[in-house]
Amino acid sequence: MCGIVGYIGDRKIDEVLLEGLRRLEYRGYDSCGLALNGGNNGIYRKRALGRIDNLASNLSKEKLFSAQSGIAHTRWATHGEPSEDNSHPHCDCSCELVVVHNGIIENYSVLKEELEKKGHKFSSQTDTEVIAHLIEEKIKEISRGFAVKHALPEPLFFEAFRRAVNLLTGSFAVSALWIKAPGLVISARMHSPLVVGCADNENFLASDVSAFLKYTKKVYFVDDGEIVALKKNSVDFYDFKGKKKNKEISVINWDLSMAEKGGYRHFMLKEIHEQPLSAQNTLAGRLLPFEENRILEEIELDKKFLLEMKEIQIIACGTAFHAGLSAKYVFEKLGIKTSADLASEFENRAALLDKKTLVIAVSQSGETADTLHAVKAAKKNGNKVLAVTNTLGSSLTREADHTFYTHCGPEIGVASTKAFLGQLTAFYMLAVNFAYVKNLINFEKAQEFCKELLSLPDLIEKALSLENKIEKLTEAFSQKEHYLFIGRDVNYPIALEGALKIKEISYVHAEGYAAGEMKHGPIAIIENGMPVLALALSSQYLDLIKGNMEEAKARGAEIIAVVDEESKKTVKAKHYLEVPKINELFSGALASIPLQLFAYYIALQRKCDIDKPRNLAKSVTVR
Ligand code: F6R
Repeated sequence: MCGIVGYIGDRKIDEVLLEGLRRLEYRGYDSCGLALNGGNNGIYRKRALGRIDNLASNLSKEKLFSAQSGIAHTRWATHGEPSEDNSHPHCDCSCELVVVHNGIIENYSVLKEELEKKGHKFSSQTDTEVIAHLIEEKIKEISRGFAVKHALPEPLFFEAFRRAVNLLTGSFAVSALWIKAPGLVISARMHSPLVVGCADNENFLASDVSAFLKYTKKVYFVDDGEIVALKKNSVDFYDFKGKKKNKEISVINWDLSMAEKGGYRHFMLKEIHEQPLSAQNTLAGRLLPFEENRILEEIELDKKFLLEMKEIQIIACGTAFHAGLSAKYVFEKLGIKTSADLASEFENRAALLDKKTLVIAVSQSGETADTLHAVKAAKKNGNKVLAVTNTLGSSLTREADHTFYTHCGPEIGVASTKAFLGQLTAFYMLAVNFAYVKNLINFEKAQEFCKELLSLPDLIEKALSLENKIEKLTEAFSQKEHYLFIGRDVNYPIALEGALKIKEISYVHAEGYAAGEMKHGPIAIIENGMPVLALALSSQYLDLIKGNMEEAKARGAEIIAVVDEESKKTVKAKHYLEVPKINELFSGALASIPLQLFAYYIALQRKCDIDKPRNLAKSVTVR
């Protein structure tokens, strides 16, 4: 949700910033902008409504002066409509100080009122602009002579920035430039992601590493309550009181090609096709040979806790919630009582959790504000939290007690695909492992499950061969405005996910239902020719779902059935999408592949902007 980039070094700053913005565009794309600090040459600021290309083409028409540092922003509007005036960077009264910000300043209206009384003139409707004026005010305050030691521009800027961020409440990753200190970029973090990249004679900062992966893999993850002073040859960290901190550098193992399209038309399609490999990465080294302590050691979870654990509580949002909801069925089929809740609806339930309940928070980005808030509520209640995430060093990994990475590599397409599959796969492994540790399944059964899980990458590859068939099939359906997705048990959440995918990238109406619920109301919306995608894989519920499909067919639905070789023999449908057969516990992973492809090709036929659907952003850091 909004992306920020900063650079200090000898490269062409506008180019580094534009490239960084392009890589972060998935985080928001209403508008964008950048600012360059040329010291005596002044501050250059350019903003544009819409995509990065608009900004780049405006820049190409202008002669830019040489600058020492720069910051940039791509926006997903929260306060103030998308417009050039509301785009970042925002500046102080004289436009000598500029800021970019990701997050929400909750107390901005109070601060704004105070600053207006002091004569500050605001030119946008955003919460962010208040930060620029606040730093300006603090520079004036300090310069009035309270602290002579701050008279030099850099310490003065640092101290003013520090005092300003101490007055902010809410969430922020904020970076600032001041005309009088061109060799310094100052940033701070509170509940919004920020990472620093280090190289020789140059340093970078961004909302996520993909913005500077081309230049360096050496990073510092900025923590909540930290200020970072970036110079060409140094990176220094401080707490909000101004005390210097030592930090450890991390090395990222993602490479740039993973964050590029690699010949595919869209990131979404590339990521759908990456799933055999990403599933392999999720599984790698975790199952063979099957040993009860292997996963427990990785996540550093005590066996005693697991033995005493009475229940699992899953919390997540959107697609990650669907993975969690499918996992609930898997855990319960293996004998572990599990609940799954939307993170945004969870807060009041936290206090009711038994202390022996393990909370599992699932998030691709590890930065989703609703999920982080729910985690805090669970921790306040004294529960252990296990994070299932794709993102190294994310806020979730720092809030949680334990982490299980999905290792899917960067997911850039706004519609989540490979991360969803990674989450399901991670859950399957946890479920088998926990069930074995708790003596709910024996060693032979655990091994049998592991063998099935290890075949997932190949089976996903086979399911992907449906692509041509699905592309053709969608030609006939692309003009439909309503779709139903139905499933039962582990595949009910997959139906929800199928509906979400098509809604978010095609803007059509789609609903996912537990197939058994149809007759309790929703069946009334079925009319002649309405596409109903039914998940009819071999399972204990196959006969029931066949009945539900007949009920829909009798009311005019055109049934597209996702089947396996065995269920196909008895399922009656107009169209079949056959995926390989796997144990029904894990069938959600395979059933989701044709639904992802179906959503993709419907969106393609409808000429939608697949990787950047309207109104959305990939990482939702507001509540
Ligand atoms: C949909 C999608 C979203 C996310 C949700 C949670 O395709 O991507 O529904 O799943 O915003 O995001 P994470 O997993 O980053 O917490």
